[in-house]
Amino acid sequence: MSKERFEWLASVAGEVIKTPGTESNVKEIFDKCWELRRSGEDLVIFNQFDELGNYLWHYEVTGHAMQEVLEREMRPMDTYRGVVLTTGSAGTIGCGDYMKKLFPASKIAASEALQCPTLLLNGFGAHRIEGIGDKHVPWIHNLKNTDMVMAIDDQSTMSLIRLFNEPAGQEYLANQGVPQDFMDQLPLLGISGVANLLSSIKFAKYYELGESDVVLTVLTDSMEMYQSRLHELTEECGEFTAQEAVAAHHRHLLGQSIDYVQELTYYDRMRVHNLKYFTWVEQQGKTFEEIQDQWYKPDYWTSVTDQVEEIDALIEAFNQRTGLLP
Ligand SMILES: Cc1ncc(COP(=O)(O)O)c(C=O)c1O
Repeated sequence: MSKERFEWLASVAGEVIKTPGTESNVKEIFDKCWELRRSGEDLVIFNQFDELGNYLWHYEVTGHAMQEVLEREMRPMDTYRGVVLTTGSAGTIGCGDYMKKLFPASKIAASEALQCPTLLLNGFGAHRIEGIGDKHVPWIHNLKNTDMVMAIDDQSTMSLIRLFNEPAGQEYLANQGVPQDFMDQLPLLGISGVANLLSSIKFAKYYELGESDVVLTVLTDSMEMYQSRLHELTEECGEFTAQEAVAAHHRHLLGQSIDYVQELTYYDRMRVHNLKYFTWVEQQGKTFEEIQDQWYKPDYWTSVTDQVEEIDALIEAFNQRTGLLP
């Protein structure tokens, strides 16, 4: 993780435990969690990868936020086509289930790093898109409702954060006619935000979408967390030049193609779902019955989302007790 991400963590956590490896070495975190559980210490582990509350939160909160955006932004002739997101814990993509309930013809596309293509190729590897791609299929990913998987080259994300943030990149974009107020907002795209943007472009190209089609994604975090990565790239590759700006724009943005995309059939979805077995049942304590339920029990996912009212009431009662509510 970037220096800024560690600093942010330290500012919100009493203690930060660093596990070895790269962005995708999540098994090492799971191992540490088992060690802590077995230590007998009084602790609660919230694991975003298997906590159905994570899925539920994005279904309910991110889902409604997306609905509000569509209600505000869509013109009468527009059609909402789907949500496209890179996945880490696959919590955020839970919003797709909500959106598909509202728009049954819409799609849900899950994206990852080409250097770690687990969904696409049962693959593994180290990559630089911080926050996503963890060498396993998260327990809370509803594969039965996922229509497409795809992969983004991390070289594209690293080149584009330079194009969007380095002076030579901004100058080039201004010369291309990008308005200043738009350019001022480009730092809102962190590395996985750029990957989400590129994934949405792939999705739009694959389905030959036009100007009245609407695709949603999320800018997961911003360049506030990655200034050190820009410095490292300069140290590694030299100054970002005007020539590199042209190359980055043409190769990674305009040239984004429909390679590394797979539209999922029923059995493709099952193939990805089945990969969960090796992480969750063999290693992490889930049962054979539970993994079968995720696929075969018709109300498995809706039994989670049906809990919204009950949980909201508990949250309100709790807030009342803390004195947060009048
Ligand atoms: C920066 C960043 N991008 C993307 C993601 C992926 O989101 P999710 O875990 O909901 O799939 C995360 C998750 O922690 C993240 O921190």
